[in-house]
Amino acid sequence: MALRTKPLTEQVAIITGGGTGIGRAFAEALVAAGAREVVIASRRGDVLRQTADELNKQADTERVFPFEFDIRDLAQTEALVRTTAERFGTIDLLVNNSGLAVPETVEAITEEGWDKVLETNLRGAMWLVRAALPYMLREDFGDVVNISSQAGKHGYADVPSYCASKFGLLGYAESLRDHARKTGANIRVFNLCPGLVDVEHTGATDEPRPGFIHVRNMARTLLYVLSLDRNVIIEDINIYAR
Ligand SMILES: NC(=O)c1ccc[n+]([C@@H]2O[C@H](COP(=O)([O-])OP(=O)(O)OC[C@H]3O[C@@H](n4cnc5c(N)ncnc54)[C@H](OP(=O)(O)O)[C@@H]3O)[C@@H](O)[C@H]2O)c1
Repeated sequence: MALRTKPLTEQVAIITGGGTGIGRAFAEALVAAGAREVVIASRRGDVLRQTADELNKQADTERVFPFEFDIRDLAQTEALVRTTAERFGTIDLLVNNSGLAVPETVEAITEEGWDKVLETNLRGAMWLVRAALPYMLREDFGDVVNISSQAGKHGYADVPSYCASKFGLLGYAESLRDHARKTGANIRVFNLCPGLVDVEHTGATDEPRPGFIHVRNMARTLLYVLSLDRNVIIEDINIYAR
């Protein structure tokens, strides 16, 4: 039986960390491609509101909505999913993009640093997926896109907790994909694993710093994976500057 499809123009997306950097580029690209509603969510309400205003103005629309939440707080994480579904009817696309690094070597790792990184980059993504799955299953449609990193493929001495979180995200994603396959759920799981992405020089005519890629390439990659047929699995996309 053919898997259900849904045009982007009917889709509701949540992008964590959508107010800045890569997440903002994702939001901009999804709106330009016609997504019905795009909820950008993170801690700083002022940053989110400004991004939403700018993207809405740019696209002459009202389809970007800010939502203030801390991914380390279970209740706030569940509220993001519930509020989005209640307001817009469902959640078709979840982009797990919020993330940070605390540079502490293996000898210097603190409990605080380790917990902050693992809770933000890994546990929060799991909470969001767990909360969003029932809506995706009800609609028989959903995509989960995880922003891991080259630090999810290789270990680096200066950021062991970050590497552990990004490797962990890929392991979790593989289990989620296997779960969808075994249960027949129409849910795709994509992982993007960038190297250095320039989140300071993001203007259309800006040149990225040497060794970095322009943020638009992340946005294009997102739109590309979403454009694939429902039965296509792409496991991880490694993307970095030559
Ligand atoms: N730029 C790169 O070179 C690169 C390379 C590989 C992977 N990545 C990954 O790409 C993703 C986006 O990073 P970026 O480069 O675009 O940097 P960024 O602009 O700093 O984005 C990180 C986002 O995460 C949000 N965030 C952090 N802590 C949060 C929390 N507790 N609750 C909710 N949201 C939180 C931040 O928003 P608030 O501060 O408002 O909460 C921010 O919008 C991250 O997962 C990062 O690890 C980046």
